[in-house]
Amino acid sequence: MTSRRDALKSLLLGSMIVSAPNSLGALAAAASDSGQPLRIPPVLTGDWHNGVREFFLTLQAGTTRFYRDVDTPTWGINGSYLGPTLRMRDGDPVRLHVHNQLDEQSVLHWHGMDVPARADGGPNQQVLPGDTWSPAFQVRQPAASCWYHSHTMHLSGPQVYKGLAGMLIIDDDSSDQLDLPSDYGVDDIPVIIQDRIFDADGNMVYPERMEDHMVGVRGDTIVVNGTLNPIFRASTGRIRLRLLNAANARNFTLALSNGQRFWQIATDNGLMEAPVELTQLVLTPGERAEIIVDTRGTEAFKLINVPVPPSNVPHYGLFTELLMQMDRQAFDILTLQPSGESTTGSPPTLPQQLAHIDWIPREAATRTRRMLLQMGEGQGNGGGLGGGPRSRKEFGGWGGGVHKINGRKMDMNYIEATIIAGTTEIWEIANETPMIHPFHIHKVHFQILERNGEPPLPSERGLKDTVNVPAQGSVKVIAKFTGPGDPITTYMFHCHILEHEDHGMMGQFIIV
Ligand code: C2O
Ligand code: CU
Ligand code: CU
Repeated sequence: MTSRRDALKSLLLGSMIVSAPNSLGALAAAASDSGQPLRIPPVLTGDWHNGVREFFLTLQAGTTRFYRDVDTPTWGINGSYLGPTLRMRDGDPVRLHVHNQLDEQSVLHWHGMDVPARADGGPNQQVLPGDTWSPAFQVRQPAASCWYHSHTMHLSGPQVYKGLAGMLIIDDDSSDQLDLPSDYGVDDIPVIIQDRIFDADGNMVYPERMEDHMVGVRGDTIVVNGTLNPIFRASTGRIRLRLLNAANARNFTLALSNGQRFWQIATDNGLMEAPVELTQLVLTPGERAEIIVDTRGTEAFKLINVPVPPSNVPHYGLFTELLMQMDRQAFDILTLQPSGESTTGSPPTLPQQLAHIDWIPREAATRTRRMLLQMGEGQGNGGGLGGGPRSRKEFGGWGGGVHKINGRKMDMNYIEATIIAGTTEIWEIANETPMIHPFHIHKVHFQILERNGEPPLPSERGLKDTVNVPAQGSVKVIAKFTGPGDPITTYMFHCHILEHEDHGMMGQFIIV
């Protein structure tokens, strides 16, 4: 097994410092020198039964061909890797049947959806092997690109890594009226971005070293919708990319290889008020954005990750080395090849008014809660994560493996916040650690008030459920916590670096 060595290589040597193809020598060459067509997940719209839209989802094991002639063991939903794109509409009554054919417990969480606690899918609603869980709710939120993924206590990291994730698109009447690309798979494209490690036999490797879990698991190979070296042939002059950072821990700073601008039209939970012109866009794990790309021309170009100056605060020891590597790697994500109509045509147009957003005034908040994100904190060397004994010095005194919020690891028996239905609150998320954490709150769609005292970026001015909380910085968000109340079932809030979530950087709130 080369897993540890590969993991070490990917973290210490920054083996992603390559342009293309984006992977390990021999296997990558076998995959395809010129790239593979981007896989488009099939759409599942559900079947109407007695006025309810029902979705049948089976968690299953299988094999996937990332590399030519290599069957890689993976997990998926109604397939071998990832799941179908679920498509539902504002107002729909839906029921999802999550059937677990795996040999360990699992569950799916509808990330970005405002659903009753019992239907949310989290550590509270585990589905044992052979069982089926059937949450029901009414969709009541604007058009958005959401997603779903495993949210199993202590196992979200490895389960998502194996493939338990998919996109979930919500439609509504007002977005239907807009002149936006909306032909799924043709000019409206899901882009599920992940990083993985493959060993020499083509098996996906989930690193177990403590260091990888401290900072979160990062791979040296990019897969998009489960495709290695993906190419998308654009047949129209403008395309809409529904970007999802579904990596366990890696941040992406996205740009186009030709330096061209693009237009962001949506944040996590829906359309923005107006398109925002950008040349770069940062997505931390769990975040989504929809962008419009001008694909007119004859030359292929790429969606790339650009290296950014290290966002993490310098520390010392090996831990610092790992942190410093994180954002310094350049790599390709998706090749866009104009074809047909997109080689000519006039400049793409975009509606100037997209959606109406009800900005919540600060005064509407009846309280401010503080959530302090913590790591290590003098807990010794944290050898409990399977990394074996390590010297304290090696980790610069950061200890290891202890991820907490407000001094606590996730505890199923502890509820951090009890909120009365209908209350508006400001949450101040403070980060005392030397690295970024993407903070996610279930159920609510919040608005970012400030980051380190500054207004949010233009790319963040919309409805959000996950926010980049900088190293040793803080972010304030405001949200209304609507009902229905439920006196016993909790919602989660957590860091969306899945290893941090699994190791305790998660807490619970309840709406009563
Ligand atoms: Cu996307 Cu609680 O997770
Ligand atoms: Cu969520
Ligand atoms: Cu974190």
